Amino acid sequence: MTARQSAAMISSPRRSSGLSFSARHKMTVQSKLGPLISKRRSIRRYQANLVDREVIERLLLAATQAPSAHNRQPWRFVVIEEKEVKATLANAMGQRLRQDRIADGDTSKTIDADVSRSYARITEAPVLIVVCVDNREMDKYPDERRRRAEHLMAVQSTAMAAQNLLLAAEHEGLGACIMCAPLFCSDAVADALNLPDGWQAQMLITIGRPVDNGKTRPRLPLTDVVRWRTRGQPAR
Ligand SMILES: Cc1cc2nc3c(=O)[nH]c(=O)nc-3n(C[C@H](O)[C@H](O)[C@H](O)COP(=O)(O)O)c2cc1C
Repeated sequence: MTARQSAAMISSPRRSSGLSFSARHKMTVQSKLGPLISKRRSIRRYQANLVDREVIERLLLAATQAPSAHNRQPWRFVVIEEKEVKATLANAMGQRLRQDRIADGDTSKTIDADVSRSYARITEAPVLIVVCVDNREMDKYPDERRRRAEHLMAVQSTAMAAQNLLLAAEHEGLGACIMCAPLFCSDAVADALNLPDGWQAQMLITIGRPVDNGKTRPRLPLTDVVRWRTRGQPAR
């Protein structure tokens, strides 16, 4: 079989549908991915039971299918299931939160309430995944402007992996929520979890079987966030 014949065989199912690639793609988004995307909510309360390791591995595999700058895959993940490790992490993060809030001049009552809330969120979730970025395989530049851009690309790639993970969790019937706190105390997280060199904590994802459907939070209309730039009409 010639290369052209085999290419024709591969592409024939697409042709036989009678739809262009973009029309087929739109249908897929509407019929499969659409509900998954629109049903996902940040879920913050979970049933106590653990999540099967196989399921967690599927979430991690989905995360690692994300696109990444230069395909360097700078994402790293720490999975935590054990109570003691969760408590160690929650205490380390709580201590830093307390220091920051004291420096802000907040009252001890509000600080205590926030620290306990954070402790409960972290220790009561059946599974925690700390998402980290490792910059070391990214391109190196002599100037700060390009170093920052390269670092941002690594962080963007990591965020894309996190979004894949959230959607995969939704697909598995799990609830999940990002907590940004590790970004504010990545050294404390590194110490508490004994992270490998170069792993910088970006976020924590709490995961478990949901006890509620979460809240529907409004989105800005496209007219607020999109500008279609047309010739002769520069965007404002
Ligand atoms: C980068 C990032 C950081 C977030 N940090 C927190 C957080 O620290 N605590 C929290 O409860 N939710 C956090 N969230 C979840 C958002 O509050 C949530 O996505 C938003 O309110 C929209 O709600 P939805 O996810 O249910 O659509 C975070 C989300 C993102 C993307």
